[in-house]
Amino acid sequence: MPLTLITHPLIQHKLTILRDIDTGVKIFREVVGEMSMLMCYEAMRDLPLEEVKVMTPVAEATVMALAGKKLALVPILRAGLGMVDGILSLIPSAKVAHIGLYRDPDTLQPVEYYCKMPPDIAERDCFILDPMLATGGTAAAAAQFLKDAGARSIKLLTLLSAPPGVEKMEEMHPDVEVITCAVDGHLNNHGYIVPGLGDAGDRIFGTK
Ligand code: URA
Repeated sequence: MPLTLITHPLIQHKLTILRDIDTGVKIFREVVGEMSMLMCYEAMRDLPLEEVKVMTPVAEATVMALAGKKLALVPILRAGLGMVDGILSLIPSAKVAHIGLYRDPDTLQPVEYYCKMPPDIAERDCFILDPMLATGGTAAAAAQFLKDAGARSIKLLTLLSAPPGVEKMEEMHPDVEVITCAVDGHLNNHGYIVPGLGDAGDRIFGTK
């Protein structure tokens, strides 16, 4: 599975701001948006281009433009919502699909409780958005859900990962590129990434 680790200094600096326990909800939310926008730039590096002609103030030129590939952002509720606006500021024409999944307390399997997709999801490049790749159960279920709906081009954008999540994606979805800004050490007994940044959803929405 392709794992893309974004080591750019700006991204690493912003990730440190997110990790800091003293970063308040306003800055946390803004920085999640900024990082998502920068990650999207990386995720779109292989978009097809086509030649177009433009008239500059000096001469006609044959130059490159995006070939018009369609994109769907797929935030996993709830924390993934924090990544949507930053990406939409770069690609305002992207459609947004939502997937809500919870973990069944008995089976520990992810169960879908909400799903709304654009009807042409199978023809779109899909970016699954989830700030944290911990066990990987939710991200793997979301990727499967998209594949069952016909999607063939899927990437996972996640701010921070842990080895179990990366391994799960590798095992279940070797065709899905995982784009992340760091792979931390391990998970604690509560399933949190260590050292991580805490509960991303609570820190984005100020619910703790
Ligand atoms: N989800 C979070 O929000 N934080 C973690 O550390 C792991 C999963």
